[in-house]
Amino acid sequence: MTLMQLLTHVVMLVVGSLSPDNGTFWMPPGKSTVSAEVDWLFYLILAISTFFFVLIVGVMVVFIVKYRYKEGEEAQASASHNLPLELTWTIIPLILVGFIFYFGFDSYLNMSTAPANSYEIKVRAQKWSWAFVYPNGYEDSNLHVPVNQPIALTMSSADVIHSLYVPAFRIKNDVLPGRYSKAWFEATEAGEYDLFCAEYCGTSHSNMLATVVVHPEGEFEPWLVKASNFLETMTPIDAGRKLYQARGCTQRHSVDGTPKTGPTFKGVWGKTEFLTNGETVVVDENYVRESILEPAVKVLKGYEAVMPTYQGRFTDPEIDAVIEYIKSLSQEEE
Ligand code: CUA
Repeated sequence: MTLMQLLTHVVMLVVGSLSPDNGTFWMPPGKSTVSAEVDWLFYLILAISTFFFVLIVGVMVVFIVKYRYKEGEEAQASASHNLPLELTWTIIPLILVGFIFYFGFDSYLNMSTAPANSYEIKVRAQKWSWAFVYPNGYEDSNLHVPVNQPIALTMSSADVIHSLYVPAFRIKNDVLPGRYSKAWFEATEAGEYDLFCAEYCGTSHSNMLATVVVHPEGEFEPWLVKASNFLETMTPIDAGRKLYQARGCTQRHSVDGTPKTGPTFKGVWGKTEFLTNGETVVVDENYVRESILEPAVKVLKGYEAVMPTYQGRFTDPEIDAVIEYIKSLSQEEE
């Protein structure tokens, strides 16, 4: 990279930083009530750091040239101290970090305390999927929320530490096993935004994605009612497919024959398979049901017992729908 290209990059970064509403080199456009203050503080710190970096490195280079060794010149004793200079480089940074602390702490408190009128959604993270549970018990793999409404997330993990990160909302918070952590946001514009896991949690960490769907005014409640009634409104096969997609099964089981960390669902129905303990099992209703509720009991040969239990997360009608779906994946072939 030539010096000219490098300078162009630096200028683009700085110019980008001046217009955070349009998204910048660092971040997508801010779409929550806290994004403006987060961005403002971030760019303030970036500007201060850039200013002092250039100043200090510049002065250093000038001094290296100006006071370099010259033939025949005697080295002088170093200055011991200079009170005005020392006070200057102490007081100015003190004022700056005081400012940064004040605004940072103020924003931090604001971001840690959800407003009293928040709509609560539970978040469950597990290797490697997200589950969002609404107040009526409905569970979805994407986060649906109404616009202009504070949303409080109560989060927990079934296994290791994950981290919920929505760049457009400027929120990121760890999701821990064995305790609840919280986050909240208020989306300011309807649309779809990316949700990432921001804590390395194993093989498929980078696939641990979800979408935040921000519904326009008045459209969230109808969506929730419709989505919650899927067992009544859909055929069992379609409902099973929806459950397969919504409950994180896609992470471990393919439906096209590709092996993942778990066996594929394609063409498996009715087959006799070997287990890790040397016994065999026929893939039928009972085996599918047991594998959902107690996945570690009968593990197919060639696989590890890595699937978490879904005890309490599938109702009986839901398990029936999944069974119909898995059945259909074997019938399509014939
Ligand atoms: Cu979950 Cu990374």
